[in-house]
Amino acid sequence: MGLSPKNTARAPSYLLPGVSALAAFSITALLLYKVDDFASQTKTVAGHNLDPTPWHLFPAKTFEQTRQARAYKIIHCSYLACHSGTSTIPEQPQAHPSKPTEKCLDFFRWIHHDLEPWARTGISLSHLAEAQKFAAFRVVIVAGKLYVDLYYTCVQSRMMFTIWGLLLLLKRYPGKVPDVDMMFDCMDRPRINVTEHKSMPLPLFRYCTTEDHYDIPFPDWSFWGWPETNLRPWDEEFRDIKRGSQRISWSKKWPQAYWKGNPDVQSPVRLELLKCNHSRMWGAQIMRQDWAEEARIGYEQSKLSNQCNYQYKIYAEGYAWSVSLKYILSCGSLALIISPDYEDFFSRGLIPKKNYWPVSPNNLCPSIKYAVDWGTKHPFEAKEIGKEGQKLMESLSMDRVYDYMFHLIREYSKLQDFKPVPPYSAQELCPESLLCIADIKQRQFLEQSTTFPSQAPPCTLQPSNSNLIKSWIQQKKKIVEDVEDMEKVKTERRSN
Ligand SMILES: *[C@@H]1O[C@H](CO)[C@@H](O)[C@H](O)[C@H]1NC(C)=O
Ligand SMILES: *[C@@H]1O[C@H](CO)[C@@H](O)[C@H](O)[C@H]1NC(C)=O
Repeated sequence: MGLSPKNTARAPSYLLPGVSALAAFSITALLLYKVDDFASQTKTVAGHNLDPTPWHLFPAKTFEQTRQARAYKIIHCSYLACHSGTSTIPEQPQAHPSKPTEKCLDFFRWIHHDLEPWARTGISLSHLAEAQKFAAFRVVIVAGKLYVDLYYTCVQSRMMFTIWGLLLLLKRYPGKVPDVDMMFDCMDRPRINVTEHKSMPLPLFRYCTTEDHYDIPFPDWSFWGWPETNLRPWDEEFRDIKRGSQRISWSKKWPQAYWKGNPDVQSPVRLELLKCNHSRMWGAQIMRQDWAEEARIGYEQSKLSNQCNYQYKIYAEGYAWSVSLKYILSCGSLALIISPDYEDFFSRGLIPKKNYWPVSPNNLCPSIKYAVDWGTKHPFEAKEIGKEGQKLMESLSMDRVYDYMFHLIREYSKLQDFKPVPPYSAQELCPESLLCIADIKQRQFLEQSTTFPSQAPPCTLQPSNSNLIKSWIQQKKKIVEDVEDMEKVKTERRSN
């Protein structure tokens, strides 16, 4: 092409401008090609260049911008945003930690239970290598900096909001979060089956678990917001739901059991629930949530604070646990919880007949009807149980959610028998880089959930006590069985 200095020098002068233009063009083209190539290999928490999890497929994500704008954004956000030196998140001076430390909520003791499988063996790098086969991403925290290694994308913005929560934890307790190396999956169902993994339990964090799984429950993304369903950060939602619940008195609320949600999530219990939609026969009103329609009309119909006008609110699991549990309990109505298969980190704090009423999934409509009839006969008790449910959720402020994450991570880190090091393929993330890669709506939601360094230390975690947890499980089982027996007696009386 004659671009070497020797050739250029010999070329007639009228060719020079053309040659330089050509050179500039080639370099630019090469650069663009390189940037594009680089960008197309860079994975992001928004889901760029990642496939959906093979164990739970969903449609690939689409990103709206032009190829060039996308490439620029990926490069800028992934490689420059954490090092630009301009923090968009304001710092607040840390006050003297003068408050005496509080004891953690009782259910925090389950942290010990969840980590029990590794209490004797510890957690090694080979545990992590095996757990990686089930993971969508890996989080490594070293010296207060967070690194992620991304394997698969997660549905919607779960990954982004989960990692945001971890970044804010670092912000909330600067210098306190230990070095740690954790595998996460972000799809709904637990996968580390106790029977299959008995010989080598794998440590895998996700949003729920069951007693037949080793998966470690971790607060789900919705505590920081869920833009796809217009749910704001938990503290804000709770405040508004509570306010909404106080607009009318208990006796003025509809004496019916209400449920509104999406029944099309491969959840047998939700399909069954549709059959109970008869206010006279079953005392229940079951409504279908149409998210596409809600998005179109601006989410007016789905505002949670307007859904507390019923004395009874039904909770039904979805494909696994459902984020709706905390909003349902917040209403202060009597929560009718259809005995769930899945547990999330806080649902272990639920005690039947203390802060909710258990409903049998095997005898669904009559069981709902029984609860409503019981509440009608015992309005004072029904109202009290509803209040206790609301109180439980009030005690679970974001401060406590961060404390749970803190203690879970700390206890887990004590089990590591190695020093965490970010793998070579990991990238550092910071709040700025997440805000940078987020789209406009995600960014609005992320910004709403910003936190400040805590003025108080985390709550004090009680020591491990597996007998206590065993006795909780037994007591709970006993009360649920008692209620089922009460229902049976009633059904028999009716048929006699
Ligand atoms: C766990 O695995 C065993 C053996 O493959 C299977 O029988 C059982 O149903 C599984 N449990 C769950 C909860 O999936
Ligand atoms: C339940 O019944 C109500 C009133 O009869 C109706 O408006 C609603 O659409 C029904 N829900 C479902 C899911 O069919």
